[in-house]
Amino acid sequence: PEFSILVIGGDGIGPEVTAEATAVLDVISTHPKSRAAFKLLPRLFGGCSIDAHGTPVTDEVLETGRKADAILMGAVGGPKWDGMRRGFEGPEGATLRLRDVTQVYANLRPCEYFAAGNSPLRDELVRGAKFIVLRENCGGPFYGPKEETPDYASDLWSYKRSEIERIARMAAHLALSSASPKKTVTSCDKANVLASSRLWRKVVQETIEKEFPEVEIVHQLADSATTLMMMRPTLFNGVILADNTFGDILSDLAGVIPGTLGVLPSACLADIPAQKWGDDPVKGFYEPVHGSAPDIAGKGIANPIGAILSVALMLRYSFGMEEEAAAVEKAVNSTLDAGFRTKDMRGTTSTKDMGSLVREALQQL
Ligand code: NAI
Ligand code: MG
Repeated sequence: PEFSILVIGGDGIGPEVTAEATAVLDVISTHPKSRAAFKLLPRLFGGCSIDAHGTPVTDEVLETGRKADAILMGAVGGPKWDGMRRGFEGPEGATLRLRDVTQVYANLRPCEYFAAGNSPLRDELVRGAKFIVLRENCGGPFYGPKEETPDYASDLWSYKRSEIERIARMAAHLALSSASPKKTVTSCDKANVLASSRLWRKVVQETIEKEFPEVEIVHQLADSATTLMMMRPTLFNGVILADNTFGDILSDLAGVIPGTLGVLPSACLADIPAQKWGDDPVKGFYEPVHGSAPDIAGKGIANPIGAILSVALMLRYSFGMEEEAAAVEKAVNSTLDAGFRTKDMRGTTSTKDMGSLVREALQQL
């Protein structure tokens, strides 16, 4: 089959890292054992779209995103467009609108310890850490009704049973997948003080226990989870499940483990991942965790690994191409193991060289 992918380079280092990520797709589709073709649909989006079209996202791009099997994005925004930040005028508003048309409720951030000596945490502490932070992406105070006056403000932190059930199922699926080193879901909440957390804990427990008896469930208070993640990150190996707010904090915190934002990928999914090759594609939105890094844009030194690993997530979760996804991850690991590092990892390898080294390693697999 042919999968269609809306490709958004975006702003700053976005186009630089996205080019290395799409080049990986070329290697996969031209490989002798290739099982798929990719139809790339590159579009302007964010600041560059404001410059070209006067809007951060045109209706045509939203429509392309709605129809595409998956979306790959670099990053958007930068100082040039900072004045437009509010509402849907600026680059970030465009990202929210695109997410909205794709109905993605699950945000996944795999986090792993990659390269010796790069984490600010002690090496013996982080070695072997490997988990997926799964953040509920539609509920909670981010999107609830808001009240705002000069002297009073409130955000409604609410969850429906059905919203918790679907994210709990997603967590269990991920824990059982080969991407997770353990069949464990650690669910983080504040059930000691928040009513929404009490429902969260109850529904997570009931759903997973009933539908996925082979998955181990651990409940952890979200505040102490932050300390534990820094002191004993391997305790969380498996899946960390959290609501929108706690998941936001825990997923950013997890970035400490590899020691640079540049290597972290992310996925936003609209449904339970494709279980195998040949299943219908699952709509997904894939992007590195980092932003447009205006401080290093145009210098050719950005780390493309977060973007490349985002492509691995796309292959795995949208297209059911586990073998190819694992091969991309292996190629990244062997390139790092061989000692190649971009500047954010205290090395001298350029963006382009890092990309071609990973592709060479991939071709040999
Ligand atoms: P940032 O992630 O762009 O940069 C933070 C620091 O990390 C910078 O020193 C940067 O040089 C470094 N860095 C980030 N990615 C790197 C990579 N791949 N390789 C090497 N070094 C890397 O975050 P910041 O500075 O807060 O935001 C810059 C702009 O990006 C802002 O306009 C912000 O709104 C936007 N942004 C966009 C996101 C998106 O489109 N998803 C996400 C986060 C920020
Ligand atoms: Mg955040």
